[in-house]
Amino acid sequence: MQVTIRSGDPIAEQCDAVVVPVAEDAALSGPAAAVDAAAGGALSAVTELGDFRGKAGSTRLVHVGAGLGARRVLLVGAGSGGDPAEDGRLTGGAAVGGLAGLTVRSAAVALPAGADARFAQGLVEGLVLASYRFDRYRTTPEDDETAPVEAVTLLADQASEARDLNAAVDRALILGDAACLARDLVNEPPNHLSPAALADRAVQVADERGLRSLVLGPAELAEQGFGALLGVSAGSAAEPRFIVLEHAGQDADAAPLVLVGKGITFDSGGLSIKTGKGMEDMKTDMAGAAAVLGAMRAIGGLDCRQRVIGLIAATENMTGPRAQRPGDVVRSCGGVTIEVLNTDAEGRLVLSDALGYAASLQPAAVVDAATLTGAAIVALGHHAAALLGTDEPLLRAVESAAAASGERVWRLPLWDVYDKPLKSKVADIKNIGDGGAGTIIGAAFLKRFVSYPWAHLDIAGTAWDVEEVSYHPSRATGYGARLFTELAAHWPSP
Ligand code: BES
Ligand code: MN
Ligand code: ZN
Repeated sequence: MQVTIRSGDPIAEQCDAVVVPVAEDAALSGPAAAVDAAAGGALSAVTELGDFRGKAGSTRLVHVGAGLGARRVLLVGAGSGGDPAEDGRLTGGAAVGGLAGLTVRSAAVALPAGADARFAQGLVEGLVLASYRFDRYRTTPEDDETAPVEAVTLLADQASEARDLNAAVDRALILGDAACLARDLVNEPPNHLSPAALADRAVQVADERGLRSLVLGPAELAEQGFGALLGVSAGSAAEPRFIVLEHAGQDADAAPLVLVGKGITFDSGGLSIKTGKGMEDMKTDMAGAAAVLGAMRAIGGLDCRQRVIGLIAATENMTGPRAQRPGDVVRSCGGVTIEVLNTDAEGRLVLSDALGYAASLQPAAVVDAATLTGAAIVALGHHAAALLGTDEPLLRAVESAAAASGERVWRLPLWDVYDKPLKSKVADIKNIGDGGAGTIIGAAFLKRFVSYPWAHLDIAGTAWDVEEVSYHPSRATGYGARLFTELAAHWPSP
């Protein structure tokens, strides 16, 4: 979808449909009132009868005979003046939904008078996010599928207003693109997205955006002591990869913000094997990696001031004659030894190597995203990621980024009392606890490998299978790509 902004008159605009955002329970005003007058009161008839009340995300299509360049007007509820960015996203998403199934290729949005930049940014994010499709493996279109809207023009009243909002539109396009890249990677079937293929995609992103990239394969991983990642990958015919992407920012010597992603391209559970049902969606176990990759593309695109390094630990978790066994002891990158008692708790193993490696980068802060525990879904459902960590200012910065991106986070505690169940009889630590507090125990395990300000996002619930809202589809959400980008863009002050 092509999105542009300029000044223009929605009445005269030649296009297939004019989209008119209307605040909840508000009388038509500004451009909406002008469009209504030109359409002979066709819009106020709908609002006055109460058939459309402007609830966020609601729409009403009105056909108009004459008086406008377009023959359709789509009323879209713009919400009740809560968070302007989220109102914008819901408006953009609803606009795409309201035009679906029509023969509309081009649309214009009559921006409300004095629309603020956050609303405009959200609106464009909503347009991009809602028009996302993953159909590369369909050879025939679905029955109800119609061609999507190709071009949307945002119309501002004044040229100066359009200029002021231009940066917000560009930013939204980059953020939307980041989330769509993450969704593509998560939706990609596991036989098509091996760790090596993920690394190839990462290098491609780096080359497009002028990022430095480094990819380690099995030999380098063995040399550099990534024993935990190699243990997880032992059962797989596919080679593991450790991926490093670096955005230099304005000061290439500054202590970097490091983003870490769990990149299990398929999680069978290993010898502690999952049920058939339990592994159906386990191609999504690289959603943390996808968030990092999406964010690094956006961070390069926005040319953020801050130095940012993305790390991805990528492998499959499979069974077979070479697979690691419950009871194995592996040595992680920083030297800590781990007793592997459950091979299905593999995310924390590969992350231990990544977090150990991160220490060598002398980071200002490290934030990881991982589909780490089913328990995160038990605690928070699919509505919020669990946030845990060691550093209050960093946790606050993550919360601010989450508020900006509209991707919810909720804190869980990480008191030292949770360290005890991880005591091993043979090694420094074991990879499972005693059954309770699964999400906290996962984070408590990771904490052992951390020597810098650190925050952890357990995105098992938010990456996939969320309740549909207008701007995200039912499957991969791309969760985290926009949050990470907001974090990097505002770092170190929220
Ligand atoms: N990838 C899973 C977590 C997961 C489960 C993500 C469901 C998304 C949906 C992770 O590797 C895992 O298997 N975790 C175990 C940990 C346990 C063995 C301590 C879990 O949650 O059961
Ligand atoms: Mn697992
Ligand atoms: Zn997993």
